[in-house]
Amino acid sequence: MARSRVGLDIGSTGVRAAEVISGDAPTVVRAAQVPLPVGAVENGEVRQPQVVGEALRELWDRGGFKSKQVIMGVGNQRVVVREVTLPWLPEKELRASLAFQVQEFIPIQAEDAVLDFDTLGETEQEGRRMLRILLVAAQRAMVDAIVEASEHAKLTPVGLDLNPFALVRAVGTADEGLDLETEGDEAVIDVGAHITNICVHDRGVTRFVRILPSGGRDVTLAIARGLGVEDEDAERLKRGEEGAGGPPLEEVRRVAMSRAGTFIDEIRSSLEFYTAQAAGARIARVVVTGGGSKLDGFMDLLRGRVPVQVDRGRTFRRARSELELSEEAAAEAEPVLAVAVGLGIPGRRS
Ligand SMILES: Nc1ncnc2c1ncn2[C@@H]1O[C@H](COP(=O)(O)OP(=O)(O)OP(=O)(O)O)[C@@H](O)[C@H]1O
Ligand SMILES: [Mg+2]
Repeated sequence: MARSRVGLDIGSTGVRAAEVISGDAPTVVRAAQVPLPVGAVENGEVRQPQVVGEALRELWDRGGFKSKQVIMGVGNQRVVVREVTLPWLPEKELRASLAFQVQEFIPIQAEDAVLDFDTLGETEQEGRRMLRILLVAAQRAMVDAIVEASEHAKLTPVGLDLNPFALVRAVGTADEGLDLETEGDEAVIDVGAHITNICVHDRGVTRFVRILPSGGRDVTLAIARGLGVEDEDAERLKRGEEGAGGPPLEEVRRVAMSRAGTFIDEIRSSLEFYTAQAAGARIARVVVTGGGSKLDGFMDLLRGRVPVQVDRGRTFRRARSELELSEEAAAEAEPVLAVAVGLGIPGRRS
């Protein structure tokens, strides 16, 4: 029988898990989310493991997941991803000596980091056999806080993955669709509340990762400050819910679009950085997920500033959904479940 995996996404506004049965086509059999109080997770980092642990307990009660073993995701400013070229070594030896070889490439002390890598290919430099790897270095204390929260809910982390990699598995174009070979790479962008994950890939092979410390919350804060309302009211206004006696929605929209425009320029700069530094690189398509992308007008603003095909990521296309959701509820859930579902889909090494 096909085994299922539970992907767990601890976001800044909520925890979400998805149980995925893999096989020829992955199938999402269970999924749920539980909101988090403000401050429990900030900038994608667990600040209050106990509080997050409580939310995870509730998530398991609600979701009815068949396993307590989870694949956990990270995506925040305490993890870096770099393309690095090292003298060739057999994989086992490289893994054992990684900490000694990569210090110069990462802004974290290697002994305080959880390190991992993916092999990209081999090259030659001055007659020496070299290995190109995609190096991932995550600050250990940040990872420990995630593990602590999960243990509080009696969950067992059996894997740790990067949210940007998970996104590509959930909504990235593999072979079908665009002819990416002739046209270029695809950028998958998850707009959260505090964090925006960007992953550029070529049919599943990662080319570039950027984790930006901005998202939907910046739009909320701009509305709150610009129009003199409380953060919670700004959040409601942003979603188009008019409060009695509050500022008119046209004003709200003007502030929201202005802030979103600045934020989209940051996304565009990241994509331009990628194409500028990689010879011959070209982004042919952008796929967008995350709650922050639900902002009314966001997709059109992005289309106006990033002149390639821009689509919404369809989480339940790659991984068929067996969730009992109305069409409307599924459309609401798809953008916020992308990371959890992707964590539930096995990667190349798992
Ligand atoms: N209908 C909507 N209109 C505008 N914004 C929305 C809407 N629904 C959700 N959002 C915004 O989406 C953001 C939350 O997105 P998401 O749930 O993907 O983030 P998260 O995963 O909890 O956080 P992060 O990924 O940053 O750690 C919030 O800023 C929220 O205001
Ligand atoms: Mg998120």
